[in-house]
Amino acid sequence: MTIQYDSQTRRFVLQMERSTYALGLNQQGALVHLWWGGAVPRSEDLPDPAGGAMQEYHAWGEYFFDEPALKLTFADGTRDTRLRYVDHAIEGDELRVRLHDSHYPVAVTLVYRVHADCDIVDRHCVIANEGDTPVTVESVQSAGWYLPRGRAYRLTSQAGRWGREYQPQQWPIGQGKVVLETRRGVSGPDQTPFFWIDADGAADEERGSVWFGALHWSGNWRIAVEKNRDDQVRVTGGINDFDTILTLQPGASFTTPVFSGGYTEGGFGAASRLLHDYQRRHVMRPGRADRLLPLIYNSWGTFQFNIDEQRMMKLAELAAGIGVELFVIDDGWFGKRINDTCSLGDWQPSPDRFPNGLKPLIDKVNSLGMDFGIWLEPEMVSPDSDLYRAHPDWVFHFPNRTGSQYRHQLTLNLAREDVKEFAYQTMHDLLAKHNIRYFKLDNNRYVSEAGWPDAAPAEQRAVWVKYIENFYDIFARLTREFPDVIFENCASGGGRVDFAMQRYFDRMNRSDNQDPFDELALHEGFTWANLAKMAGGGCHISQGMRHINGRLTSRRFQAHVGMLGSLAIGENLFECTPEQLAELRGYAELYKAIRPVTHRGDVYRLESARNGRRAVFQYVSKDRREAVLFVLGHSMQFRDVLPNIRLRGLDPERVYEVEGASPMSGQGLMTLGLPVKLTGDFDSKVIRLRS
Ligand code: DGJ
Repeated sequence: MTIQYDSQTRRFVLQMERSTYALGLNQQGALVHLWWGGAVPRSEDLPDPAGGAMQEYHAWGEYFFDEPALKLTFADGTRDTRLRYVDHAIEGDELRVRLHDSHYPVAVTLVYRVHADCDIVDRHCVIANEGDTPVTVESVQSAGWYLPRGRAYRLTSQAGRWGREYQPQQWPIGQGKVVLETRRGVSGPDQTPFFWIDADGAADEERGSVWFGALHWSGNWRIAVEKNRDDQVRVTGGINDFDTILTLQPGASFTTPVFSGGYTEGGFGAASRLLHDYQRRHVMRPGRADRLLPLIYNSWGTFQFNIDEQRMMKLAELAAGIGVELFVIDDGWFGKRINDTCSLGDWQPSPDRFPNGLKPLIDKVNSLGMDFGIWLEPEMVSPDSDLYRAHPDWVFHFPNRTGSQYRHQLTLNLAREDVKEFAYQTMHDLLAKHNIRYFKLDNNRYVSEAGWPDAAPAEQRAVWVKYIENFYDIFARLTREFPDVIFENCASGGGRVDFAMQRYFDRMNRSDNQDPFDELALHEGFTWANLAKMAGGGCHISQGMRHINGRLTSRRFQAHVGMLGSLAIGENLFECTPEQLAELRGYAELYKAIRPVTHRGDVYRLESARNGRRAVFQYVSKDRREAVLFVLGHSMQFRDVLPNIRLRGLDPERVYEVEGASPMSGQGLMTLGLPVKLTGDFDSKVIRLRS
């Protein structure tokens, strides 16, 4: 049984394959935390909850001074919450524990969903106002995670900015508090809503105790990692309470986002693979995990806004010729948009550049055997647009303030029902009227001046939350109505990559930075928490991206790096010689041959681009019969001899055919390793192993 309650000892025990989570009731009837970590199969060994003091859901009140999970103000001005156990229900893998304030009519239900196969627990809570006066919610966090007390811990998180997402940062957890958060309205890229904590700073890719967590929220979030005066480390996270106030009217309730937590003794690599399995089995829509992503051509890498029907038709012919499966037109197909100064909101094909609408191009693309995809940025409006002229009040704004523009655009206030319906209808109509099989969502600015003056005063500061709830509602509807469409999550590259987005989106634009050397570190960081196959971009293979930092790399290196995730080509095919087109066709074939392993298998980050002269990634199919090894040199020196690459995750008993080498057993490959010769800078090899 995954979840057990012992009425004698008043303990709840959540058993997973390799870890245990436990909580219980103390003498005062408060729910207290007991254990999160390695497996404790004999529940009698766990601490006795009777005298426990660490409240599982730590509301602000009584003699408590740490970061709270809940902060309420009642109608009479009382700002003190005291939660006591009422009852609980266990249904399959789910535990619900109902708590209630000791005086005021507020109920808090803590929900635990146990994914024993992944050693992950999903937590969230529902707070309900059962009284007849409003309750002000100043902070309502999803969960607090306690680590075993008294050990030395190290926090690892990800920081970044546009073009430089998922960069690691680490520090020892001392007394005090580290707050990871965003206030930009989208979940990244400055921080990602994710943490790793290891004991004694001793974990690496292959070994060590790691506690990890990820928040399923795409707007303002906050994760506070705190060590109090008693050496207790607690991680409290959820919706950012900065500038957010929720008012719970009589009878109303609020459900927080999910905060997932997991534990492994297999180091950071194992933590990632657990998270990947968790995404496949418990987060993504049914049937999506094993779906292979198509080889994409995207117009942005070379043509930017410079696209029109005739040009795209000719380009599509060349793209089909090299084996592209999905042809995507990016920004620039609508209104009078020939640059970024106008037309967001006017989602009609440009009368000059697509005078016959989208149909002729889509038909052409389909006749060439490819699917068609399109770009849209539905949360935005250009001041120079018919939409803005008709509805200036639809954007976030404060009275007597001029809205700050970024990239000449303003953010539509999706919290408004009329705006939400407009955004939904725009996308729905496009998808309903055309044979569009791929939808690239973009979002190129942050939310500023988040005012909503038309709303009732008590609702105005709920705007950050309402926006995201409506955003999810739109994509829940669209994904239901158009189940075959592939949705790409792009927000200026990887600006909004989080677990909630994975419910609806099949592919993430990992970054706008498609310099292949930079991508090595980006991919490493991306795969910490996200499935490798989701790692997309618009144009992995494209000389057009050289402007990013001027680095010269071969098509071959670009292609090999692109194949680590979901490959896209953005090359100017008009300028390619027949030999170059044939070369691209070769990469297309290789990508299609290896993607059953790279998209569906396990990933091992064998060597980091940050440390040595090469980056090495290995993918292994779930049945361990096949593997693909990527060896990507980047700082090679003349006659460099680098150590053999010791593979991982293979079946030790099997003998593998190794491309370009003699057959070797899994044991041999994992112990002796494979010598791989690279000649010079940016040389790379993709080696297939089969048994
Ligand atoms: C930012 C995205 O990240 C790019 O891939 C591209 O779609 C541009 N926006 C288009 O404006």
